[in-house]
Amino acid sequence: MRTIKMSIIGLGGRGSWWLSELLNMEDVEITAVCDKHEDRMEKGRKMCAEKYGHDVYGSTNWRDVTRLDDGAEAIMITTYWNDHVKIAIDAMKQGKYAAFEVGPAQSIQQCWDLVRTYEETGVPAMLMENCCYGREEMTVLNMIKKGLFGEVLHCQGGYEHDLRAVADGFKRDHERAWHYLHRNAELYPTHELGPIMTYLDINRGNRLMSLNAMATKSRGLNKYLKDKYGDEHPMSNADFKLGDIITTTIRCANGETIVLTHDTSSPRPYSRGGRVQGTKGLWMEDLRALHIEGRSQGESWQPMSEYWEEFEHPLWKKTKATEYTGGHGGMDWLVMRAFLDAVRNKTQTPIDVYDSATLMAVGILSEESIAEGSAPKSIPDFTDGMWIKRDPAPKTIFSLAEVDDSLYEGDVEF
Ligand SMILES: NC(=O)c1ccc[n+]([C@@H]2O[C@H](COP(=O)([O-])OP(=O)(O)OC[C@H]3O[C@@H](n4cnc5c(N)ncnc54)[C@H](O)[C@@H]3O)[C@@H](O)[C@H]2O)c1
Repeated sequence: MRTIKMSIIGLGGRGSWWLSELLNMEDVEITAVCDKHEDRMEKGRKMCAEKYGHDVYGSTNWRDVTRLDDGAEAIMITTYWNDHVKIAIDAMKQGKYAAFEVGPAQSIQQCWDLVRTYEETGVPAMLMENCCYGREEMTVLNMIKKGLFGEVLHCQGGYEHDLRAVADGFKRDHERAWHYLHRNAELYPTHELGPIMTYLDINRGNRLMSLNAMATKSRGLNKYLKDKYGDEHPMSNADFKLGDIITTTIRCANGETIVLTHDTSSPRPYSRGGRVQGTKGLWMEDLRALHIEGRSQGESWQPMSEYWEEFEHPLWKKTKATEYTGGHGGMDWLVMRAFLDAVRNKTQTPIDVYDSATLMAVGILSEESIAEGSAPKSIPDFTDGMWIKRDPAPKTIFSLAEVDDSLYEGDVEF
């Protein structure tokens, strides 16, 4: 496979992990690294030098990297949320495919800017929603496409993750901590909404129309800091704006409803809280079970394990992604292979700017809704009406728009 030259901006926890993954991919060559903290940038350069035996370009200024004439075809952006879109836009203007990590938008204008930049330059950008490539999520997608649930009526999902240690992030310039301090919003909608958008054909025959959001009071982070540090910590008595549990309800053009839950400030096991319910039955992630009329006895649940053999998504069957990397069970590897496949073939990315803008917009709209007493907020149609009749998405093994079993027959390049 042709080698793709790529650079990376943002070398904190996630970025340095991505850098080591990319350095291990034989068809990728890292040409430049960047972090605004010089020590992190230098650590990235050292990782590259150890792998390649020569120095790569490094800078603390991201514009030096987006504008570098180094033959890079793509840029991976793993900075914190506030800078994703502006860096992506600059990369696209230089003709470089932009991949950016997940997070909410900071304004609706920013979402439109991303869309318009794509329309002006023709250069794709992709929000790297790894959960769209999760083994269970893709298998549920396959079940939906094969009609197991009948017509889908309702989906749920959540970012349900004990992240109270976020409050320690003030020490190491971790931007999420500042968002928790200042914003009352569904701050991380994309892990669950990304897969749900694939289930409901959003932006391809369906669209998100409007949302309402509601927040509980905020208690978890103050309790965490007080239990750990007493009143010593400067944030122990801070007025965190983020409610401990944020519930967002969304209505779709074709009549489905969606409930999202952001629940990161309380003790709990990790879950993405998936549920898909249709006219013939439902799947519930937390139960690891399904109930399907005509297959399940009476009103009983059947374990998900009884459905793997028949319904596991062919991409997972074929690639056995877990054998390649440990990143979130293999889905991180798949989302990167999907992006690289588009860069290599100069095709559209499977999550495009319209999907990325829609996903990110939910963050800022939920914030406005909460601030206005759960007022309904219209979700912009970033496709400008194209959702009604879109050109088909590229037919590749990484497609999220359909499951075409014939694409996985014989030898498959990934
Ligand atoms: N998809 C996933 O499963 C997953 C997992 C973890 C993190 N993330 C996402 O990855 C991103 C990074 O998260 P993290 O935990 O690594 O955060 P982090 O704070 O550890 O790292 C961010 C890095 O970006 C650098 N940076 C920020 N702004 C910059 C700028 N303008 N120019 C250059 N460098 C800049 C910071 O100095 C820092 O080193 C976030 O969007 C986060 O939501 C995704």
